[in-house]
Amino acid sequence: MIGKKIYRFTEIDSTQDFAKEIADEAEEGTIIIAEVQKKGRGRLNRVWFSPPGGVYLSVILKPPLSQNFFPPISLLASIAVAKAIKKLGLNPSLKWPNDVLLNGKKVAGILTETNSKWKAVILGIGINANLDIETFPEELRETTSIKKELQKEIVIDNFIKDLEYELNQVYFLFIESRLAYILKEWKSFSQMFNRRIEVRTPTEVIEGKAVDLDEDGALLIEMSDGSLRKIIAGNVKIL
Ligand code: BTN
Repeated sequence: MIGKKIYRFTEIDSTQDFAKEIADEAEEGTIIIAEVQKKGRGRLNRVWFSPPGGVYLSVILKPPLSQNFFPPISLLASIAVAKAIKKLGLNPSLKWPNDVLLNGKKVAGILTETNSKWKAVILGIGINANLDIETFPEELRETTSIKKELQKEIVIDNFIKDLEYELNQVYFLFIESRLAYILKEWKSFSQMFNRRIEVRTPTEVIEGKAVDLDEDGALLIEMSDGSLRKIIAGNVKIL
């Protein structure tokens, strides 16, 4: 069960790194939460700005499945975050592969890391909860926070409990291999399907119509000649 054991820190370098250190011995579902991270990490080696007021947590997952089945974990985490935010009365959307947006701006990010040694997935979630975006470094001001969108602060502990609940719900579906349902839920939070999009991958820029996700969570795009392309990583812009 996710959240049966929780480590809480007022300050840490990165919950993700601590989770990796204890991953071998830790029980499945162990959560590491910090109020502040000094070396928070985002995807693609970016820094994750982690001042007080945000939610920074990592979950150690040990799914009883082969590692080939791990890719959808970041999709399911983004669904859980979106649902917890929706409960606050906001209207989140998801941007492929796993950013959570409010009013088109990023409010939360997910980082999943695994390797064959740990046989575990470290699921990192960073949420701009009670943050004032004006205090963010210049290059990060294009993001938003729950506080900004709601015009008030939330009770972080209650929010984390809701998030735990949602994570448990969707993780259970994953263990039960109910992938089709998870993909359907993810798609219901996304605004890109049946629209023209541009995807920037590390090597090229691709334009086409977003048609679906495959069972690994890869994005399927219909090209102008009618062929389908499968995209595993990239940055999406709706045109
Ligand atoms: C992204 O780039 O969108 C992913 C951000 C993930 C940030 C979280 S905060 C908790 C955990 N610890 C880290 O150092 N990173 C992740």
